[in-house]
Amino acid sequence: MLISPSILTCDFAHLAKELAFVESTGADMVHLDVMDGVFVPNLSFGPPVIARMRPLTTMFFDVHLMMEYPDRLVKAFTDAGADLINFHVESASPVAETIAAIKALGKQVALTLKPKTPAEAVFPYLDELDMVLVMTVEPGFGGQKFMADQMPKVEALRKEIDRRGLSVKIQVDGGVASATAPACAAAGADIAVVGSALFNAEDPRALVEEIHAL
Ligand code: DX5
Ligand code: ZN
Repeated sequence: MLISPSILTCDFAHLAKELAFVESTGADMVHLDVMDGVFVPNLSFGPPVIARMRPLTTMFFDVHLMMEYPDRLVKAFTDAGADLINFHVESASPVAETIAAIKALGKQVALTLKPKTPAEAVFPYLDELDMVLVMTVEPGFGGQKFMADQMPKVEALRKEIDRRGLSVKIQVDGGVASATAPACAAAGADIAVVGSALFNAEDPRALVEEIHAL
């Protein structure tokens, strides 16, 4: 599996240092969690912060929008330097139009599913997507417990993607660590988002290698 470290649990007073840390672990990309305080009961950061991060690294910016109206800021996030824009199928924005707007800006696009949303919710859009994210916690906070009951959803998506002969990647996000990543890989996930487990790891490079070996 590839690994996309979430900086949500990092020290935001030292973002440049934390980005350099992520890069030093050998991770494949960086996962940026944007929260609006409406779609989820928490706030994080937005386009101005991402724009300041952009010149500090060449890493791929995997931007996860936990927003009620992601369509309103699609252009702001691409201008800020997002490489992939990922929004929730449960958001209040029109899904097909928002996908089209992201693609028109020349960026990769993904849809996310909350734990209670079935895999089938993204099937109508699958042909248009670069990635689907299966949340393995309720979105809003880092450091929560992994929900193993989401693995059948990953399997169902894998089956449908393969049946259609698509190259859509499957990402898992929430509570992914040494103990829980193997189940994600076995279910067919391609990319693991890892937040607190990486920032608290005694040997972060070893954890990245472990995920890569799955
Ligand atoms: C949760 C976020 C996740 C989270 C991952 O709402 O989307 O990206 O920060 O953090 P850990 O790995 O600590 O669950
Ligand atoms: Zn996330």
